Amino acid sequence: MAEQAKKPIKITETILRDAHQSLIATRMTTEQMLPIVDKLDKVGYHSVECWGGATFDASLRFLHEDPWERLRKLRAGFKNTKLQMLFRGQNILGYRPYADDVVEYFVQKSIANGIDIIRIFDCMNDMRNLQTAVSAANKEKGHAQVAMSYTLGDAYTMEYWVSLAKRIEEMGANSICIKDMAGLLLPYKATELVKALKENVKIPIQLHTHYTSGVASMTYLKAVEAGVDVIDCAMSPFALGTSQPATEVMVETFKGTPYDTGFDSKLLDEIADYFRPMRDEALKSGLLNPKNLGVNIKTLLYQVPGGMLSNLTSQLKDLHAEDKYYQVLEEVPRVRKDLGECPLVTPSSQIVGTQAVMNVINGERYKMVPQQTKDVLCGKYGATVKPFNKEVQKKCIGDAEVITCRPADLIPDELDTLRGEMAQWSEQDEDVLSYALFPQVATDFFKYREAQQKKVDPTVADEKNKAYPV
Ligand code: CO
Repeated sequence: MAEQAKKPIKITETILRDAHQSLIATRMTTEQMLPIVDKLDKVGYHSVECWGGATFDASLRFLHEDPWERLRKLRAGFKNTKLQMLFRGQNILGYRPYADDVVEYFVQKSIANGIDIIRIFDCMNDMRNLQTAVSAANKEKGHAQVAMSYTLGDAYTMEYWVSLAKRIEEMGANSICIKDMAGLLLPYKATELVKALKENVKIPIQLHTHYTSGVASMTYLKAVEAGVDVIDCAMSPFALGTSQPATEVMVETFKGTPYDTGFDSKLLDEIADYFRPMRDEALKSGLLNPKNLGVNIKTLLYQVPGGMLSNLTSQLKDLHAEDKYYQVLEEVPRVRKDLGECPLVTPSSQIVGTQAVMNVINGERYKMVPQQTKDVLCGKYGATVKPFNKEVQKKCIGDAEVITCRPADLIPDELDTLRGEMAQWSEQDEDVLSYALFPQVATDFFKYREAQQKKVDPTVADEKNKAYPV
């Protein structure tokens, strides 16, 4: 047999973003990250995912940290490694669509503060919701990776994924990610999908999955053999369960093969040693729930991402209705079908999940309908792959206008208004973006920040108070 040409598999390390978002509610602090940056920087990763997704919200809301400051510190530490972030298309890092000027400014500032690769996705896979972010990343000379939110359903045929991939390439993306947030992509399906994509597009293909259903490392193996270019892994202390396959395991798996990463196993071991006590601590405090570490086959049965399962559990707990768990799980696919069979990923996963809970709790479907469900049915989150259930649409929104254009075309520029609203708190250009995404949470953080500064240097704070009388 002729020797196979070498094609080392590239790895994106997720420990600073998705891994702790998936396992410990995004609670890793900058202080916990910085001491290990030097070693992570020496591994030779394709990139380190360290920003975006829920980290922005969580650092402001729970950790009293400025996410922009975190990014700058990480950038200063990573001298050789590309930094990657996750970006929710027109929803940025929030839960609703924003005006184009906010999206563009956010992309610009993310890149200016140190991001190299922006992974952009849309919860409806409506490519119109990605164009502004992709063009902005192109303009700022960043790497625009467009993610296809992977899901199952009648509409999601191989032809669908191939045509989506072609459109992604045409729209100016630098690479494509298969974003499998629920761990639904089975190993042999991965072979088929990766082969089909490689045959039809020229830009690199990256695969992102979660271990939730237990198949993820087999899926990577088949995807790598089929020619995928990059896989997302997490260092073992925060791998598996609802997180990614373990970096060290994948590295060992491909050793001595044409896909050999060439990574230093000893260095990886030292990095794992650093994170292990953090894992032990999280297990002890309950932050890391052992339930999230096992195989949850329900994710395959109900096609629900792991994060959504834990959200549903806590919503039902708050309502003292934990006994309705299975009824809600069965209601989720029905609601999803009513809403055009959209993928389940932030924010559509929250919208579908909340609606399913309400339908079950009220004993009548769509008796109570949150604004976000109505917005989906009005087309404000974009076009879905299948039509909405007409009856449900009628019951929820009556004769309200349904839009078919790109939703952001109807949102007037917001930046100037936002700047006006938060002027008294602004200390850096980026503050308006934190405020745009989470007005209340950001304001609370700005107040906290000011109080901290007063403690450190009372004269500076006095000067500031003079400048901005309250
Ligand atoms: Co993920």
